[in-house]
Amino acid sequence: MPRVNKTKYDKPLFEYRRLICNNGFFDPLTTRISEIIRGHLHDDGPTRLLDAGCGEGSHLTKIQQNLSPCATGSLLAVGIDIAKEGIIAAATEYSNAIWCVADLAKCPFADQQFHFILNILSPANYSEFRRLMLDEGMVIKVVPERDHLIEIRDRVYEGFAKEAYSNANIRNQFKEHFTIMNVDHVRYQVNVNERLIGPLLGMTPLTWRLTAEGLLSMHSRDLRKVTMDFMILVGMK
Ligand SMILES: C[S@@+](CC[C@H](N)C(=O)[O-])C[C@H]1O[C@@H](n2cnc3c(N)ncnc32)[C@H](O)[C@@H]1O
Repeated sequence: MPRVNKTKYDKPLFEYRRLICNNGFFDPLTTRISEIIRGHLHDDGPTRLLDAGCGEGSHLTKIQQNLSPCATGSLLAVGIDIAKEGIIAAATEYSNAIWCVADLAKCPFADQQFHFILNILSPANYSEFRRLMLDEGMVIKVVPERDHLIEIRDRVYEGFAKEAYSNANIRNQFKEHFTIMNVDHVRYQVNVNERLIGPLLGMTPLTWRLTAEGLLSMHSRDLRKVTMDFMILVGMK
C-alpha cells in the first residue's frame, strides 16, 4: 500500500484547485501541453498517458478532452496522486480515466507502459519515470517560473528579505535523466473575480506559511489580476 500520508493537500485545497481550474486559470497551460502531445501522437494503436501527481484531475481531463478529437487510436489516461483526497475528488467527478492513490516514486505499473508522462507542479522521480516510459516515450514536466502568482508571493513574503527565485536546479536534474527536446514558457495574466480570491489563496502551497490572521488580511487586499508563469520541460530517454 502507498504511504497515504496526511499532508496539507487536503479536501478543501483540492476543491479550491478544481474551482480555479474550472474558471479557466490553467487553460492556456493545458492547451499548450495538449499541442505538444498532439505533435507526437501515433497514427495507430492506443496512446497511454500518465499524470504523476495529478491532484484533483482537472488538468489530465482537460488534456484528454483536447486530444480526443485528433487521436486516431484509443487514449488511455491514468492519474496518480499520493493524496487520497485528490484521487477521491478526481474519481468522483471524472469517469474518463483511471485514478489511483500511489506514490510516484513507486508506481504500481509494469515497465514501459506509457507514451507520455505528465508531471505538473508536482514532485518528480525521474528513475521511476524512465522505468514507466516506452523507449520512444516523452516526459512533460511543468514548473513554476519566477513570476508565477507573483502578486500573491510578494504579499506572503512582504517584510522578508527577497530571495532570488531560480528553477535552474530542476532543469539541471531533468537534464541528467533525459534529453531535453524542448523548453517552453507559458506566461499570461488572469482577471480575478472577487469571489475567487479565497479559492485562489486556498489552492496554493504559497500561503501555507501564513497564519490564520495573515491569510484573513490577504483576503481583504485588492487582488484583481494574477500572473500565471510556467516552464514546460519536454524530455525523452
Ligand atoms: C501543487 S499540487 C499539483 C497538483 C496538480 N498537478 C495540479 O497542478 O493541480 C502537488 C501534488 O503532488 C502530489 N504529490 C506530492 N508528493 C507525491 C508523491 N510522492 N506521489 C504522488 N503524488 C505526490 C500532492 O499530493 C499534490 O496533489
